[in-house]
Amino acid sequence: MRTLIQWGALAATLASCGVQAATLTISCGAVGHEFELCKEESEAWARTTGNEVQVVTTPNDSNERLALYQQILANGSDKIDVFQIDVVWPGVLANHLVDLRPYSQGAEKTHFAGMVANATVGGKLLAMPWFSDAGLLYYRKDLLQKYRLQPPGTWEELAASARRIQDAERAAGNDKIWGFVWQGRAYEGLSCDALEWIASYNGGTVVDAQGKVTINNPQAIKALGTAAAWVGTITPRAVLNYGEEEARGVFLAGNAVFMRNWPYAWSLAQTEDSAIRGKVGITALPKGGANGRNAAALGGWMLSVSRYSKHPKLAAGLVMYLTGAEVQKRRALKASYNPTIVALYRDAAILQANPFMGELSSTLAATVARPSSATAGKYNQVSNLFWDAVHDVLAGRENPANALASLEQQLERLAPGGKWP
Ligand code: GLC
Repeated sequence: MRTLIQWGALAATLASCGVQAATLTISCGAVGHEFELCKEESEAWARTTGNEVQVVTTPNDSNERLALYQQILANGSDKIDVFQIDVVWPGVLANHLVDLRPYSQGAEKTHFAGMVANATVGGKLLAMPWFSDAGLLYYRKDLLQKYRLQPPGTWEELAASARRIQDAERAAGNDKIWGFVWQGRAYEGLSCDALEWIASYNGGTVVDAQGKVTINNPQAIKALGTAAAWVGTITPRAVLNYGEEEARGVFLAGNAVFMRNWPYAWSLAQTEDSAIRGKVGITALPKGGANGRNAAALGGWMLSVSRYSKHPKLAAGLVMYLTGAEVQKRRALKASYNPTIVALYRDAAILQANPFMGELSSTLAATVARPSSATAGKYNQVSNLFWDAVHDVLAGRENPANALASLEQQLERLAPGGKWP
């Protein structure tokens, strides 16, 4: 508080010397605690620097947020100074973002090198990593114990345990219970879930690092067939319209045994109004059969400054503050956001509040990236075709083999001569 007051006085002095205070606008997500935390921390920065910050919310679905940003940026609008951007967008938005290196004073060296590399396009640091995401399997510890089951190691085990618990609980009168909820809507989140299934069966990453379309293969077909069989059996058909928040709603109400979600759901499961407080465990997503691997999609968000901002230096200051260690630590403690600063994974308070951050460190380190680097400016089109094809399979409109054969053709048309422009 004292520091804040001193900074406030300094800002007032600067203002009286003719240094203009400004109003910045930052776009923030609103999934879980995102919006309130972004607002709180941005306002703290505004108070200490004598500026003002307006926080605007954006749609929850990543691809809808991208469409909104593209609309704003295509007009060269200065409406938003700081954008919260998805890890898969640097290639798509590169032309509209400022190089942050002149402002960062090397702070990026304290973040995971892979994330900084992902944020760097053509030698320019287009974003500062803010938090990272990895797909996780949430499970009901109490129900697994009741039925003497271990957390599943493979998708086949997951389906069997989900079925067993669902049937027994329903027979006992718990008629709302389902085995497994996840993200099945036709949107970017489904691309993440489906990538996890496919990679877990060693079926690749849709497009490989060299830009070759790899999606039409027997392992990928098997993975999609496996997931399609969950719908209507252990997974409610309504999952075809679930994003992260819908899945979380069902799980937190106590109506699912297993859930696939990102780390943010952990802190929300521990709140007083959560029906399953203290009953939740987290483990790695299952392997695709005995020869498969644990595959967690790599997600996360970063902060960027718009090329059209009238206050790039101030905006970069806000970005550096929000992505710095102090704010990342608070966000990890309050809302289980995974830090992107390496040293914070040795912080005892963070590990105590979020045991999975320590226990699952190998899962968090061995994530599977979506093919956004290889497909660069075309990533969103690639993902859109992918999630549509998967959605058709899940909804029973198409069989996996046909869906992936035609997806392969569509993707190859996007990259004439095997080259992604
Ligand atoms: C999470 C991830 C992001 C991903 C999105 C999909 O927000 O951090 O990378 O694109 O989920 O729904």
